[in-house]
Amino acid sequence: MSAPAARRAGAPAIRVRHLWHRFGSRDVLRDVNLELGHGEIFGFIGPNGAGKTTTIRILATLLEPMAGRVEVDGWDVSVDPEEVRRVVGYMPDHAGVYEHVTVREYLEFFAEAYRVGDLGVVDASVELTDLGKLQTRMVSALSKGMKQRLQLARILLHDPKVLILDEPASDLDPRARIEIRDLLLELRELGKTVFLSSHILTELSDVCTSIGILERGQLVVAGPIGELAERLAAARAERPAARAESEPGEAPGDRLGAPPVAPPVRRRLKLRVLGDAHAVLPLLHGGGGVLGVQASAGGLLLVEHAGGEAFVAEVVRYLVTQGVMVVGVEPERNELERLFLEVTQGDLQ
Ligand SMILES: Nc1ncnc2c1ncn2[C@@H]1O[C@H](COP(=O)(O)OP(=O)(O)OP(=O)(O)O)[C@@H](O)[C@H]1O
Ligand SMILES: [Mg+2]
Repeated sequence: MSAPAARRAGAPAIRVRHLWHRFGSRDVLRDVNLELGHGEIFGFIGPNGAGKTTTIRILATLLEPMAGRVEVDGWDVSVDPEEVRRVVGYMPDHAGVYEHVTVREYLEFFAEAYRVGDLGVVDASVELTDLGKLQTRMVSALSKGMKQRLQLARILLHDPKVLILDEPASDLDPRARIEIRDLLLELRELGKTVFLSSHILTELSDVCTSIGILERGQLVVAGPIGELAERLAAARAERPAARAESEPGEAPGDRLGAPPVAPPVRRRLKLRVLGDAHAVLPLLHGGGGVLGVQASAGGLLLVEHAGGEAFVAEVVRYLVTQGVMVVGVEPERNELERLFLEVTQGDLQ
């Protein structure tokens, strides 16, 4: 008789402790630690060869960890892989689909294979993934985006708590990507936890509640996006002070070539105004915190600045009081891209 299954009560959705994995003589995962709460959408980001798929295959019980402990919803992947499979919906990076069946047949086949019993789950999956109108369509006639949706419908059949998706949006056009993103948000509302990988930073970053950046098998940074940005900003602010401390008596600017302070962060703000954007340039040039301004056709202005949200609000307020008709404000969205460049070295394996 096998040992009784042991679930750790009150455990997070995913918990990885000191995970190592090696192929041949090469350490592909090196002491990876991460923890993911229930209901989060976690973006696992890293360049090609960083070890994302290897980590995901371990979480999905397709590979055994060589060292360390990996738990999904409190179940240890090495001790209770069957239980882990029950709670996990796993979508591999290059999933093939059976082509010569209809969408409905495909899902019913898997529902039976998963022994879900009630075929009502097929209806639920179809509805959630918006495949209703395509049920009688042959799988071979689906576009890539629709096939991706079908994969998601398939992994939802057994109502898993944790979805593990390897590059779910790669190769999708912008519309299909937005649709997948909206679907992930819907799944989160249903209480699912989503762990997704991507090497394209901008791909799904706006739906992620937290991220982890993996480089050469090591987790460089992980946590809620907002918190990471704050931590980096704090580290940046500490840098000049640390230098002054290490060299007492020397003013920061004394050493030739040593910048007295860390260079300011450059952020971009896109504005759209009614009328000629060039006419607005004199109002912004030389303003406090403004590092550069460009105007272009269509009333567009690109402001480079070193400020935060308050700065953006102040610029808009000022322009409006000067009679400028501001119709669009788009602060730089991609916090994540900035984070990534700051914490990684750009090393590929
Ligand atoms: N079965 C295997 N045998 C030997 N080496 C492997 C095997 N699978 C992966 N590797 C190696 O392990 C490293 C990590 O691969 P992995 O597929 O986990 O990276 P990844 O982050 O998913 O990359 P990508 O963004 O390209 O999908 C790579 O150097 C890869 O060549
Ligand atoms: Mg991969």
